[in-house]
Amino acid sequence: MLKILDQAYLDMDPYLDLEDLPRVDQAVAESFDLIKQNSWQRVIDLSGETVNCTWSSKQRGALTPKSVFSLEVQEQVLAPMWILNLTEDRNTPKVNCYDSLKTPPQEWENIVFRNDLSPSWKPFIEWVQNIKVFSTLGRVSIIIGRPGVPVFYHRDSGEYDESFTSHPHRQEFIWVRLSEDKRIFILDSDLTPHRISSKAAFFNHHNWHGSHESYPKWTFSCKIEGIFSEAFRRKSGLDKNHQYGE
Ligand SMILES: [Fe+2]
Repeated sequence: MLKILDQAYLDMDPYLDLEDLPRVDQAVAESFDLIKQNSWQRVIDLSGETVNCTWSSKQRGALTPKSVFSLEVQEQVLAPMWILNLTEDRNTPKVNCYDSLKTPPQEWENIVFRNDLSPSWKPFIEWVQNIKVFSTLGRVSIIIGRPGVPVFYHRDSGEYDESFTSHPHRQEFIWVRLSEDKRIFILDSDLTPHRISSKAAFFNHHNWHGSHESYPKWTFSCKIEGIFSEAFRRKSGLDKNHQYGE
């Protein structure tokens, strides 16, 4: 496992105002038309096997929610999670993993909150904008877990073991649990799951992470990307690392 300060993850709870974290249920409920099925990342289960997911749906011509649904029904595959981006990236070409050292300032400026969101998102967006650990805020996305479907293990780069080469980077973000009982794990190199027990965390998203568990209801978490401020890096000890990973 690629660790952060010798741990599976950095507990971010002490640095965030989690008492005032707004609920997002109503806002998500009003956002169906903006949600995308995740249909590009290859995902695995705890045995390391590729799950029968929709990762190849684009190559198979399924580009819309309607056609991904059709693929799911006809081929018995599934999109393991749905994603709602609260921001839009106006960069061309699109960046997959933003890096505090490598992504130029003008590219960060091109990531903005989208203007077609329901007003119900306002309290949550204000909460995000008040987070103190970033010097620059980046992409903000809501990860929507579907009832009965685990948010299977994936790398955020989408890479699979055959194509993955570990490399140092400074890709910084906070993962926040929005549904109280949603559990997420980071896999060790022997696929042992390490549960994130804090409500918010920073970890190396080049590790396999996700879950083998499902719930009989919709669950939510969010990923807030950005550039950690130097003050936060010093306070948390992250300044000991110029980059993360090997
Ligand atoms: Fe992820």
